[in-house]
Amino acid sequence: MRFTSLVTFLGLLVPLAHAIDMDFTSTSSINSGLALIAKGLMDYYNGNETGQTPGMFSNPYYWWEAGAAWNSMLDYWYYTGDDTYNDLLKTSLLFQTGDNWDYMPSNQTTTEGNDDQAFWGITVMAAAEKNFSNPLPHQPQWLYLAQAVFNTMAARWDSEHCEGGLRWQIFKWNNGYNYKNTISNGCLFMLGARLARFTRNHTYAEWAEKTWDWVVEKQFINNETDAWPVYDGGNIEADCTDVVGLEWTYNSGLFMAGAAFMYNYTNETKWLTRIQSIWERSKIFYDTDTKIMYEAACQPTGQCNNDQRSFKGIYSRFLGLTCLMAPDMNAEIQEYLAATSVGVLRSCSGGSDGHTCGLNWQLDGWDDKYGLGEQMSALEALQNRLIWTRPPPLSESTGATSTGNGSAGSNTVNEMVRNQLDIETKDRAGAGIITTLLIILFLSTAWWMIV
Ligand SMILES: *[C@@H]1O[C@H](CO)[C@@H](O)[C@H](O)[C@H]1NC(C)=O
Ligand SMILES: *[C@@H]1O[C@H](CO)[C@@H](O)[C@H](O)[C@H]1NC(C)=O
Ligand SMILES: *[C@@H]1O[C@H](CO)[C@@H](O)[C@H](O)[C@H]1NC(C)=O
Ligand SMILES: *[C@@H]1O[C@H](CO)[C@@H](O)[C@H](O)[C@H]1NC(C)=O
Ligand SMILES: *[C@@H]1O[C@H](CO)[C@@H](O)[C@H](O)[C@H]1NC(C)=O
Ligand SMILES: *[C@@H]1O[C@H](CO)[C@@H](O)[C@H](O)[C@H]1NC(C)=O
Ligand SMILES: *[C@@H]1O[C@H](CO)[C@@H](O)[C@H](O)[C@H]1NC(C)=O
Ligand SMILES: *[C@@H]1O[C@H](CO)[C@@H](O)[C@H](O)[C@H]1NC(C)=O
Repeated sequence: MRFTSLVTFLGLLVPLAHAIDMDFTSTSSINSGLALIAKGLMDYYNGNETGQTPGMFSNPYYWWEAGAAWNSMLDYWYYTGDDTYNDLLKTSLLFQTGDNWDYMPSNQTTTEGNDDQAFWGITVMAAAEKNFSNPLPHQPQWLYLAQAVFNTMAARWDSEHCEGGLRWQIFKWNNGYNYKNTISNGCLFMLGARLARFTRNHTYAEWAEKTWDWVVEKQFINNETDAWPVYDGGNIEADCTDVVGLEWTYNSGLFMAGAAFMYNYTNETKWLTRIQSIWERSKIFYDTDTKIMYEAACQPTGQCNNDQRSFKGIYSRFLGLTCLMAPDMNAEIQEYLAATSVGVLRSCSGGSDGHTCGLNWQLDGWDDKYGLGEQMSALEALQNRLIWTRPPPLSESTGATSTGNGSAGSNTVNEMVRNQLDIETKDRAGAGIITTLLIILFLSTAWWMIV
């Protein structure tokens, strides 16, 4: 499905097939429908071709979105059992880890933000929870990678400005370094909540609590009414009080699902109240009559960029996780997903293949839009109706086999120190050298932090 406008044009003249007709009471009908949409998603993947980079989707899709798209494919396998793409999925997740196994590959570090890194981290967290085929022993394991992403993010907690929180960007030279955004902090919150439930190491839950409290204190989530909007973020120059009032589906979903993992882990009703309050406001993302989902901040004006076109998919995935971890929410959320799926199926009727999915699901047909985000969103909205057909996310105590290490992510610095200690045990006379090396290490770390 490489589109040129000519192909699209011909596709309109000679439709090869009509909308995907999916009967949600029939497993084979569901699976064949989802297979077409998943194939459509993978048509944007070219990382397995000569000269291309494993893990990356074709231009113009950013690295972060590839991380998110692989989670869609992971869940696709989990709910349908179709393992056609599992090798590509596994290769991709392992190829992009970076030398330090923390999803900061050197090709990305000049532009990588906390949220970019986190979307890969969330995907490997899901791989651990779904007991996805473990890497070889000498390779990094899914849990390890998720912990490394969490630990490196937590280490960036910035108490110097706005009394805490993560900046959007990791590096000073990038636009947005002075912006503290909801998505980056929401990702830390979610990873903390999921790691707490998975490992039962309470330190992760403390981080999740701390992140939640900060986001609410800064009013990025406004908790003053019964329905809580989740806003976009604020700038350091204004002590983060200049809250940007954009509301994106995926931010709302991120906090609902994170709160649902906390609810599942703690069984504290305050977390259920928080989910319910965000969900109430989240209804602005649905047409009031049809209950069909849309991206309210950009869709009506036709302004959704490539990133934003994928948000409904990520949101749908988080809705599914919310249902799984807080079953009290299941009935109503699934009702909205069911209503939405009617629109999705009508929309997946475009392009030269006759089942390309569009952006606007309110229409009776395809809206002429297509892309990785559109395919992801359609796939996720549909497959998250199947959440109860497979076991809920596993944890270490319920049979997950992925292994990790609470110190993951700090290996670079630790390794340097360890090498120096080796020298020490071999040759005490080398103590002076060690001191020198440690000073150099300290200075270079300090230099790194300043730069
Ligand atoms: C790359 O993977 C796709 C599946 O998405 C497959 O159809 C294609 O043949 C593969 N290409 C190569 C060069 O292996
Ligand atoms: C980094 O980019 C180079 C050049 O395009 C490519 O050969 C390499 O595979 C990439 N590595 C990763 C991890 O993306
Ligand atoms: C709203 O958040 C603030 C700051 O965390 C907290 O003090 C207050 O109790 C919260 N209100 C509700 C209704 O949850
Ligand atoms: C969770 O809380 C509910 C109500 O507070 C209680 O009925 C239930 O037994 C608790 N479950 C666990 C696993 O603690
Ligand atoms: C936690 O999740 C499991 C699996 O879906 C569910 O059975 C259980 O009821 C959940 N716990 C709470 C407190 O909702
Ligand atoms: C997880 O995967 C391992 C290795 O493939 C397998 O032995 C184990 O039975 C699986 N556990 C569950 C709960 O699926
Ligand atoms: C975990 O990582 C730390 C630091 O790299 C290392 O010292 C430790 O041996 C590791 N623990 C296990 C159980 O592998
Ligand atoms: C628990 O998690 C924290 C935070 O990552 C880590 O520092 C600590 O080593 C972990 N504890 C265990 C017992 O794994």
